Amino acid sequence: MQRTPEPELMDDREQAAAYAAADWTESHGKIPGYFRERFPDFAGGRVIDLGCGTADVTIRFVKAFPEVTVVGVDGSDAMLAFARKSVHNAGLDSRISLERRYLPDRAIETRSLDAVICNSLLHHFADPVAFWRTAASCAKPRAPVLIVDLVRPPDHQTAVQLVQEHARGAPPVLERDFMASLHAAYSVDEVREQLVLAGLPEFNVDQVDVLHWVAWGRAPI
Ligand SMILES: C[S@@+](CC[C@H](N)C(=O)[O-])C[C@H]1O[C@@H](n2cnc3c(N)ncnc32)[C@H](O)[C@@H]1O
Repeated sequence: MQRTPEPELMDDREQAAAYAAADWTESHGKIPGYFRERFPDFAGGRVIDLGCGTADVTIRFVKAFPEVTVVGVDGSDAMLAFARKSVHNAGLDSRISLERRYLPDRAIETRSLDAVICNSLLHHFADPVAFWRTAASCAKPRAPVLIVDLVRPPDHQTAVQLVQEHARGAPPVLERDFMASLHAAYSVDEVREQLVLAGLPEFNVDQVDVLHWVAWGRAPI
């Protein structure tokens, strides 16, 4: 199936509210484990969550790694408003800070963080190679970088089945967004090509389940 891009920012309040109210345990719950398996020697520190949205992954990550603080960045005020509430309600204001940033942003790329995490941002991003450069340049040399995103299904019928299976009972706006995201997602081969173009050929990409791939590596020296 040919890729159809979707809008970058999720800045509609209804869309953000539906995203914030959804239970993401099935997919987001696995992300701290993906990181731990690939970077077992990670000693903690300051982590950045690119395109943090409502901070669901951010919160799961700090809970899984008591020795980290996270800065979550996103370009959408609507998503960040829900993120702020969730972080506060989880009692994590001292460990999670949130910044409105439209990426790529030079001020982010010149930071020197101890790790980078990111879920479901790449398929929104206008320029995928710029995405990989941002992800690799905001961390210290050799710092862990873990990026997770959707796999584009082979055809529309498969996308319909996946939405039926994985978004059953979800509000229409969430079903619509999920379908659009499946159409905007990249294949594992496309991600590998992007990594080569971005100067990150040593990064690995694994398809980890029917919906997702994980790309991971260490920030260049
Ligand atoms: C599908 S959501 C994922 C949110 C979060 N990472 C999660 O897993 O729950 C994608 C997020 O990326 C943000 N986004 C998309 N393009 C962006 C850009 N160029 N700069 C900053 N944020 C962006 C959107 O506003 C949205 O909050």
